[in-house]
Amino acid sequence: MVTPPSMTLSPRARFLKACHTENTGRPPVWLMRQAGRFLPEYRALREKQDFMTLLKTEELITEVSLQPWRRLRMDAVIVFADILLLPHVMGMDLKFLEGQGPKFSKLIAAEKDLNELKPFKAEKDIPFLLKALHNIRKETGDEAALIGFAGSPWTVASYILASFDKLKMNEPALLKKALERLTEETIAYLSAQIGAGVDAIQIFDSWGGVLSPEDYKIWSAPYIREIVAALKPGGVPIIVYVKESLPHLEAMLATGADVLSVGWETPLEDVRKKVSGKVAIQGNFNPHILMQATPAEIGRRTQEMLETMRGCPGYIANLGHGILPKTPVENVAAFVKTVKAPSPWRGEGWGEGES
Ligand code: CP3
Repeated sequence: MVTPPSMTLSPRARFLKACHTENTGRPPVWLMRQAGRFLPEYRALREKQDFMTLLKTEELITEVSLQPWRRLRMDAVIVFADILLLPHVMGMDLKFLEGQGPKFSKLIAAEKDLNELKPFKAEKDIPFLLKALHNIRKETGDEAALIGFAGSPWTVASYILASFDKLKMNEPALLKKALERLTEETIAYLSAQIGAGVDAIQIFDSWGGVLSPEDYKIWSAPYIREIVAALKPGGVPIIVYVKESLPHLEAMLATGADVLSVGWETPLEDVRKKVSGKVAIQGNFNPHILMQATPAEIGRRTQEMLETMRGCPGYIANLGHGILPKTPVENVAAFVKTVKAPSPWRGEGWGEGES
């Protein structure tokens, strides 16, 4: 019997094909925030190490990035880092307080504060991250695509600027300067990750959805577009994620990204109608359902999602936002297994039942 080509496709190749709108057989699958608290082995490590130490230690980054993949064999591994690592290595003192999230000891309140931030230098600022990327690739080979990431300038700005809400209205010049600076440094930060061998980049514009469509085109999309344009020669596909993405699909498309990653409030059939064929689509299972439903129900709903996207030339199965920390591991397993399982139910359009 002749082996269909889809059966020999490595997870890495499957993921890259999806990014290039060339899905073959089933879509690839991974989950935003897969490296983290839903895993008991992550929680065990966190009991011994604080979050900032995890973020800055080569061996720990390697270990935490690989934990979900070793257990559940997603098609992609996202490197363990944080969107706030970049401003931190540029000189902003950062702490993660239990139950409260990130806290900078001093926020950017004036142009002077912005000018005091050190220019980002990859070799000096993130050697641990770059070495971890090499280590991860060594272990996964072609058995997983490796994803690097950064926050969008708008989303990172929302964490580092004082009186952020008022700034847009009252001090647009300072906000603009901050966004320009973040854009420049993010390009260097992501270029270093590409240099270390990542297969794809995701730009998390998690807070893009708070903007009106008009404001999104002023305050977020142009900076992402600049990053995408600067990274394009690297030849690595770029995924842009916005949580409440429906009002912004046109602008997201105009950034030049290869993949649009959408939140669960955005119906996949609408996204498909608007952008399919132009770019690939990633998303958008509801993480609350992933946390609360039974594995059987998750399987059923995941199949429903796959059915909506059946035959789409570029589709990556994922969540609409990060995994919630209390999500049972067996629920995540049910999600991954359903996407990977051969299923006659899916019928034509995904190819044969490859795993
Ligand atoms: O996806 C992955 O598995 C890779 C790791 C990753 C983390 N943060 C690790 C993390 C990624 C991709 C991020 C992105 C990130 N970080 C975003 C954008 C994506 C999104 O979820 O909207 C944002 C807004 C941040 C900033 C951030 N980091 C916040 C607001 C918090 C506190 C809230 C929370 O989720 O705990 C973090 C902490 C953080 N980043 C944790 C992890 C595993 C939890 C830290 C812990 O162990 O206590």
